[in-house]
Amino acid sequence: MAVVSSAHSSIFSKTSLFHHMNCFKRFSFCLPFSSSAAASLSTKKKWRQPVASSVVELCGIKIAKDDVVRDDPTNNIPDTIFSKLGMQLHRRNNHPLGILKNGIYEYFDTNYPNMFDKFDDLCPIVSVKQNFDDVLVPADHVSRSYNDTYYVDSQTVLRCHTSAHQAELLRRGHTHFLVTGDVYRRDSIDSTHYPVFHQMEGVRVFTPDNWEASCLDPTSYAAEDLKKSLEGLARHLFGAVEMRWIDAYFPFTNPSYELEIYFKEKWMEVLGCGVMEQEILKSNSRLNSVAWAFGLGLERLAMVLFDIPDIRLFWSIDERFTSQFSEGQMGVKFKTFSKYPPCYKDMSFWINESFTENNLCEVVRGVAGDLVEEVSLIDNFTNKKGMTSHCYRIAYRSMERSLTDEEINELQWNVREQVQNKLNVVLR
Ligand code: DAH
Repeated sequence: MAVVSSAHSSIFSKTSLFHHMNCFKRFSFCLPFSSSAAASLSTKKKWRQPVASSVVELCGIKIAKDDVVRDDPTNNIPDTIFSKLGMQLHRRNNHPLGILKNGIYEYFDTNYPNMFDKFDDLCPIVSVKQNFDDVLVPADHVSRSYNDTYYVDSQTVLRCHTSAHQAELLRRGHTHFLVTGDVYRRDSIDSTHYPVFHQMEGVRVFTPDNWEASCLDPTSYAAEDLKKSLEGLARHLFGAVEMRWIDAYFPFTNPSYELEIYFKEKWMEVLGCGVMEQEILKSNSRLNSVAWAFGLGLERLAMVLFDIPDIRLFWSIDERFTSQFSEGQMGVKFKTFSKYPPCYKDMSFWINESFTENNLCEVVRGVAGDLVEEVSLIDNFTNKKGMTSHCYRIAYRSMERSLTDEEINELQWNVREQVQNKLNVVLR
């Protein structure tokens, strides 16, 4: 199954830890460049990591940085991630993610008038129970690991998917809803992965009068309705494309599917979905019901619809990016304002048992922020003594300007120092 872009394909489609051992998650940072950082861009001064302010307002509540970023083994949230909280790119009507969200709303509002309740301001700090237990993610599932998820403390995480809100909304009596929000995952670094991205979740609950009028059993009824609704959505977004349904696995749905479309000569995964597990409905006061659910990644779709080549651009406040998009203008093609050259730096070290690529990427982003474009393993060997060496190539490139040799060398020295100190590896 070829996909156009691997941008945040579901970790939930993996059943166990082993499938995921090699799939690194990444993290990042970077405030919307603070005014001082923006000033330094125009005067071509040395690039400095933007400093996160110490309080953020989330869903009407003020949250102090010290509550989210703590020097404590149950916490793995860097400043760079804290600085993204509350940015809510999906709520900006002139931003590709907001335009896409509104385009999806438009589809549901036109075809199901006044049916779906919409939520786009639910707090991204959720309990482990909401994020995992309530949607039946197994206790040993890889997505629960500290390597993959950002933990505020042992019982609290930054949601890694919008499915985290399914149960509470069902309990609150909602039967048709769309939830859009920022989600957080530790990950590797490349042009389609960023530690903060955006998802939309959809849920529709049916009662016996819905399926009894058909000659279908409740599950088949929900699955048919799901496929029809989502094929309509894909046509609304992409036009008359070829589509196919792939059987999938998610802990929260059965049966589960992925929808793929044939776009620009490749099959591309659009979303994951399925018929909600009965246990979720029953535990949330929906007896004698059946439901469908879907989840889609907004960046993955927006990169294709708007021709956006690098996921970091969504965070850019450079006018040459932001001025190209306006409210209601779905699928306007982004014109690259210029391509600055990348600069590659390699680093080799002996790893230790606790080494993970996600941890490496977190350190690299902590130093270089959005100036790092990709971190890739280019060599890997184990010597006779059983010591394993990794060589990583780091691509530095700004989306907005040329970087000087001096600046890159300084970044690379800092990266080397921090990698050595924070990851306890031995540089070669
Ligand atoms: N939560 C899944 C993910 O992040 C996406 C998803 C798949 C959501 C299937 C759903 C669903 O509601 O039914 O990868």
